[in-house]
Amino acid sequence: MTNHEIKLSRRFFMKGTGAAALIGTTVGTASLAGCAEQSDTSAQEAQNTTAPATEMNMERVNFDAGYNRVNTNSIKFDLIKMQNPGKQLDVGMGIADMDFRTLPEVTAALKERLETENWGYELPPLDYPANIVDWNKRRYNADVPQGNILNSVGVLDGVLSTLNAYGKEGDRVLLITPTYSSFFSTIHQANMVEAESEMIRNADGRYEVDWDDFEAQIASGIKLFILCNPQNPTGNCWTADELRRMGDICNAHGCLVLADEIHCDFVMGDSVYVPYAELGEEYAMNSVSYKSTSKSFNLAAHRTGYLFSHNRDHIDAILKVGHQRLLLNIMGLIASNEALKHGDAYIDRQNAYLTENAKFVEQFCAERIPDIKYKVHEGTYLAWLDINALIERLDAANKAAELTAYNEANNVTYVDFFGVEHIKRYNTGDYMKEWFMDNAKIDINPGENYGKGGAGFMRMNLATNRAMIEKALNNIEEAINTI
Ligand SMILES: Cc1ncc(COP(=O)(O)O)c(C=O)c1O
Repeated sequence: MTNHEIKLSRRFFMKGTGAAALIGTTVGTASLAGCAEQSDTSAQEAQNTTAPATEMNMERVNFDAGYNRVNTNSIKFDLIKMQNPGKQLDVGMGIADMDFRTLPEVTAALKERLETENWGYELPPLDYPANIVDWNKRRYNADVPQGNILNSVGVLDGVLSTLNAYGKEGDRVLLITPTYSSFFSTIHQANMVEAESEMIRNADGRYEVDWDDFEAQIASGIKLFILCNPQNPTGNCWTADELRRMGDICNAHGCLVLADEIHCDFVMGDSVYVPYAELGEEYAMNSVSYKSTSKSFNLAAHRTGYLFSHNRDHIDAILKVGHQRLLLNIMGLIASNEALKHGDAYIDRQNAYLTENAKFVEQFCAERIPDIKYKVHEGTYLAWLDINALIERLDAANKAAELTAYNEANNVTYVDFFGVEHIKRYNTGDYMKEWFMDNAKIDINPGENYGKGGAGFMRMNLATNRAMIEKALNNIEEAINTI
């Protein structure tokens, strides 16, 4: 089913969207209300003059050219090197960001702002809310209610505010796993606990919801469900039917749907992303959606995202727990705004490039690394590799247990990111991560990080140039040949 087929009555979208919510409620000053009105007008003007990225600009974005991020304080390369002293890292394929230049229009606007040399308080770009609306309409025929958009310092910040608004200490939050690892820590930050409904992997390798379990868990009293669409790390783009089925169960039991759609701009081949809030009024009114330009245009360092709901009550509840985020770092807001105005061609070409990366990995594994199984996924730029055969060949589960026993007996420790010392214990995935680092000189993430159903898999980030992917795969092939 396409996005167009799921369009329903739009009348309800008018509700609660008239007020200048973004500015009025977060700053709460009458003097800014006028700016909100101006915002609409400026946005209209901006849209009239907005042109898609030109061919000339797009030539500067050569996804195939490569981008060296070593010694830039990057988490993907530099933090991993710090954590693995003395080891060689050829390709970082862990954290979900990209080794690509961002859109030239973004860089140009940031340079221009930099030149002003004054950093006093300032409003977000006045056309930003309208550009969010316009992007979602243009790309997905989705109607984001402009008055019900809130900024957030990244997507997780918005998710955390929503958990705080609707849950209390000890409440359970449902995840369908394997799913994004930081959902677990975000739930813990809210003093809540995760409930995991493990998905079922069908014969084609696609993940399906275990509907009986999903329903039973929600019926047991869970009031918050975090949906990830497209799903990190399995790559599922949920179909309208699947989303509706999840939504029907949630709606029947008064469970709020938190729809994290941060990966929505990454759709491989003919797959389709269906925005949850577009399923119809009952789904839109019982959900909050979270998005950002951070994944799409590689702007994660700018810490800028947004959330919205068609139901004004949800926005008010989120504001009430202290989510006041009008004035984010101005550079992030400018970057996001420019990306939304000019980014269409960038996203289209990036998706084409990433789809080819995924096909390359599928073919390479099928022909040369039979111990690793992978099929082109639907959404995100993350490959979910089935490494069960390799784990078996390496006897990794036993080796991990032996290492743990040794480290416990000999007090072998490591210091975590926050400076806290721990005994170095290994599960099978930890062992495999270290094996890939030591033998293939690559960094990839263990499936165990993603909850139930993750063991036996590793997540490989494909948002890099083809030469790096080829290097990583060649390294893996060579490493396996030495077993
Ligand atoms: C599904 C998902 N949600 C949220 C995030 C984090 O987003 P942010 O940095 O905007 O909080 C990520 C990053 O990998 C992600 O994959």
